[in-house]
Amino acid sequence: MVSTDNEQPLSIAKKLLSWTSFSLLSLALFNSYFYTIPSSNFTTDELLLNSSIIITTTSSNSSSSSSSFPTSEEEERANVQTSCDYSDGKWVPDKMGHLYNGTSCRTITDAQNCMINGRSDLGYLDWRWKPHQCSIPRFEPQIFLQIARNKHVAFVGDSLSRNQLESLICMLATASTPQLVYSYSGNDKDIGQKFRQWHFSSHNVNVSIYWSPFLVRGIEKTDSVNYNTLYLDSLDERWASDLDQMDMIVLSTGHWFLQPAVYLYGNSTLGCHKCTGQNYTEIGFYDVFGKILNTTLGKIVERRGGGTNGIDVIMTTFSPQHFEGESDKFGVCPKTQPFDEGEKQVEGIDAEIRRIELSEMKAAIENVKKFGKRIRLEVLDVTKLSLSYLSAHSFATGTKERVQNDCVNWCLPGPVDAWNEILLDMMKRWD
Ligand SMILES: *[C@@H]1O[C@H](CO)[C@@H](O)[C@H](O)[C@H]1NC(C)=O
Ligand SMILES: *[C@@H]1O[C@H](CO)[C@@H](O)[C@H](O)[C@H]1NC(C)=O
Ligand SMILES: *[C@@H]1O[C@H](CO)[C@@H](O)[C@H](O)[C@H]1NC(C)=O
Ligand SMILES: *[C@@H]1O[C@H](CO)[C@@H](O)[C@H](O)[C@H]1NC(C)=O
Ligand SMILES: *[C@@H]1O[C@H](CO)[C@@H](O)[C@H](O)[C@H]1NC(C)=O
Repeated sequence: MVSTDNEQPLSIAKKLLSWTSFSLLSLALFNSYFYTIPSSNFTTDELLLNSSIIITTTSSNSSSSSSSFPTSEEEERANVQTSCDYSDGKWVPDKMGHLYNGTSCRTITDAQNCMINGRSDLGYLDWRWKPHQCSIPRFEPQIFLQIARNKHVAFVGDSLSRNQLESLICMLATASTPQLVYSYSGNDKDIGQKFRQWHFSSHNVNVSIYWSPFLVRGIEKTDSVNYNTLYLDSLDERWASDLDQMDMIVLSTGHWFLQPAVYLYGNSTLGCHKCTGQNYTEIGFYDVFGKILNTTLGKIVERRGGGTNGIDVIMTTFSPQHFEGESDKFGVCPKTQPFDEGEKQVEGIDAEIRRIELSEMKAAIENVKKFGKRIRLEVLDVTKLSLSYLSAHSFATGTKERVQNDCVNWCLPGPVDAWNEILLDMMKRWD
C-alpha cells in the first residue's frame, strides 16, 4: 500500500478524539411549496440555512428509480413530497450493488482499491443509503453528464475530496470514456495524484481535482518542520487561480486541521495548534476552521459575483474517520455491516466540524442572496451516513500490510459512491 502524507491526519485524528455529547440535527433541503418544516427537528441555524436554499423542481426524478426498495408507508409519503433530507436515513441492503468494481474501473488507485487489498467477501458492497423521506436512485452517469454539459466540475480539498472525485470518475466512465488531460504531482513522490483533470468529450465535461487540504494558502509540514503554516486570509492559488474557469466546485476539508499548525492573518501570527517549541499561543483549530471557510466562500463570491457566469459551490461535510482500535494494527476494520440507526451518534470533533461547516455556509448563503441564482451554495451533508457505514475495508482476517487507510473513506467502490448519488440528486433539482 502506498504511504502518502495524506493519510497522516486520520491517524492523528484518532489520538485527539475527545467526546462531547451532541445529538445529530438533520440538514434538510425543503421545497417551499408542499412541505412545512417540522421545527422540532431543527436548530434555528439550520432552519435559516434550509430556507435560503432554493429548490424549485419536484421529486419525480428522485423517486422514479426506487423500485429496488421495499415500499413502505413512509416511502409512499416520501414520494409525494418534493424534498428530501438526505442526511436523515439508514443503510439498507441492496443487491443491485455498485456501478463499478475494483477491476472494471481503470482509474481507481491501488490505495483505494479495497478488492485488491485483502477483501474476499463482497457483501459489504450491497448496501444503499436510504433517506427516510425519499429514495436516491442508483447513480445515473448519463444524467450527470447531461447536467454538467459544457461545464468544469472541480473537486477541491483533501484526500476525501480525492476519493469523492475518484468515485465519480469510475461511475461516469461506465457511460463515457474519460481522457486524462492533465496530471501534476505537486513536486511530490505521490506522482500524478494531486492535480488532475479528465475530459469527457461526449458532453464536453471536465472534471478535475485540486489538492488543497486547507483551501487557504498553506505550507504543509515536512520531515524537518513538524507543523503546517496557514495563511487564513489568502486562498490557495493552486486551485483559486483556475476559479474563473470553474462552473461547479465541490469542497471537502477538515482532517488536516487536527495537525500541529501555526496560523497567520496578514502579517501577524494569530497563534498555533499543538505547537511544540513555538512561542505562540495555543488557539485550537475550531475558530481557525470557521475563518478559512469564511475566507474561501467570501473570496469565491468576491471573484465570481461580478461576472455573468454562475457558479455552484457544494460543501461536502466532514466525514468521520473510521477505525476500531488502533489505526495501525491488523483487524482494525472488523465490522461487516453498517451500524443500525441510532447505534452511533455524530459527536465530538466530527459534530463540531460539521456544525462550523453548516454555520459558515449559512452565513455565505445570506451573503450571496443579492446575486440571485448565479451563485448557488449547497451543503452535501454526508457526516452521518459516513459515520454509520463502518464496513468497507475488511482486514478482519488480517492483511499483510499495515492498515494506513481507514475503513470507509479510502474504499472504492464504497459508501463514498452514495455521496455522489446524493450530489446528483441535488443537481437534478436545480434546473
Ligand atoms: C467487476 O465488474 C466486471 C464488469 O462488470 C465483472 O465482469 C466482474 O465479474 C466484476 N468483478 C467482481 C469481483 O465483482
Ligand atoms: C475542458 O478542457 C479542455 C482542455 O483540455 C478545453 O478545451 C475545454 O474548453 C474545457 N471545457 C470546459 C467545459 O471547461
Ligand atoms: C506584510 O509584509 C510584507 C513583507 O514584509 C510587506 O511587503 C507587506 O506590505 C506587509 N503587509 C501588510 C498588510 O502589512
Ligand atoms: C515567549 O514570548 C514571551 C512574551 O512575548 C517572552 O516573554 C518569552 O521570553 C518568550 N519565550 C521564548 C522561549 O522565546
Ligand atoms: C465572513 O465573516 C465576516 C465577519 O464576520 C462577515 O462580515 C462576512 O459576511 C463573512 N463572509 C461570508 C462569505 O460568510
